[in-house]
Amino acid sequence: MSVITVGLDRSYPVRIDINCEEELLRLVQGRQRVALFFSENMKDAIPSLSNADAEVFLFPLPDSEEAKSARVLTKVWDWFGAAGFTRSDLVVAIGGGAVTDFAGFAAASWLRGVDWVAVPTTMAGMVDASIGGKTGINSDYGKNLIGAFHSPLEVLIDTQWLITLSDRDFAAGLAEVVKAGFIYDKGIITAIGDRNLSEVRSSESLTLELIERAVKVKAEVVSSDFKEDFNREILNYGHTFGHAIELDCKYSLRHGECVSIGMVFIAELALSLGLMEKDLLDLHRQILTNLSLPITYAGQSWETLYANMKIDKKTRGNLLRFVAVTEIGKTQRLEGPSETSLRQAYEKVCS
Ligand SMILES: NC(=O)c1ccc[n+]([C@@H]2O[C@H](COP(=O)([O-])OP(=O)(O)OC[C@H]3O[C@@H](n4cnc5c(N)ncnc54)[C@H](O)[C@@H]3O)[C@@H](O)[C@H]2O)c1
Repeated sequence: MSVITVGLDRSYPVRIDINCEEELLRLVQGRQRVALFFSENMKDAIPSLSNADAEVFLFPLPDSEEAKSARVLTKVWDWFGAAGFTRSDLVVAIGGGAVTDFAGFAAASWLRGVDWVAVPTTMAGMVDASIGGKTGINSDYGKNLIGAFHSPLEVLIDTQWLITLSDRDFAAGLAEVVKAGFIYDKGIITAIGDRNLSEVRSSESLTLELIERAVKVKAEVVSSDFKEDFNREILNYGHTFGHAIELDCKYSLRHGECVSIGMVFIAELALSLGLMEKDLLDLHRQILTNLSLPITYAGQSWETLYANMKIDKKTRGNLLRFVAVTEIGKTQRLEGPSETSLRQAYEKVCS
């Protein structure tokens, strides 16, 4: 097991390579009530915690983004009220990023914050969504617009969950691992080398190393900048164009798939502005393709994607803001590039 600490004032451990049921039994000890959230389609895999002294209430949620709604949250608040859920009780979230985002926000909003524990079960959840304290739900006006910063008590990463994950979701999570490599940790890029998806997946030791390294990157970055000034912004590498695609395809592509295309877009832009060497752009294309991730997006007009990019959270006024990588592990803010340069980069990934 390895333990990585996240945060400065209110820090918490991310325990990697643990047995999730054993750790949960330790954490629920002394609690009167435990509210356990998970996706309905995962119900057969959820530990019952029948040995716990606490009263355990099970909350099956609709799958994926369907869970992250005010409608579902209202039901949970009603239950918290009726059950007399107090600050000494515990919320446990077992699932992908959608479940941890939702349950974390339920915990943040009840009594101005009750304790919660994250048990991520997807690659994206392990290396990204469960780390950093961002919780939230979607609004009719966009994804993750309603939310709060509310750190979990602990994050428990049990890689056994990955066995049942689809190749597509495994790869989508790896896109965030590759991102962590390009922005911060060359060791990730070296460790992946020219391996393909099944070679990475079939190596438990490599999978574990990549998770540990990516968690360390996110932990170090968010610990230096909890509420998102520039340091934390580097985690959004590839996300500005990625979010534009995500909105355009109405979430039919996974978040990580959109980030993969977004990283190639920004690398093309950086190359055209003389910020990146061609070899590094080629490496982006090669490593992402080997991992079965998309690096092109078909069929949408520049005007639509440009408009989508302008509503990105990093945009200030009308000025588009990007994170560019100049060398592996070195980033630079790129503010207000011309529309001509942006359009040229779009043509490289969307033609
Ligand atoms: N809070 C953050 O900082 C942060 C960061 C990144 C992403 N997110 C959020 O995370 C969500 C995406 O997370 P995700 O990629 O994990 O998707 P997800 O939670 O939608 O899960 C993807 C699918 O995998 C299934 N699944 C989960 N665990 C499984 C397992 N072990 N075996 C088989 N199937 C399993 C789920 O039921 C779902 O159908 C988005 O809502 C995104 O906004 C949050």
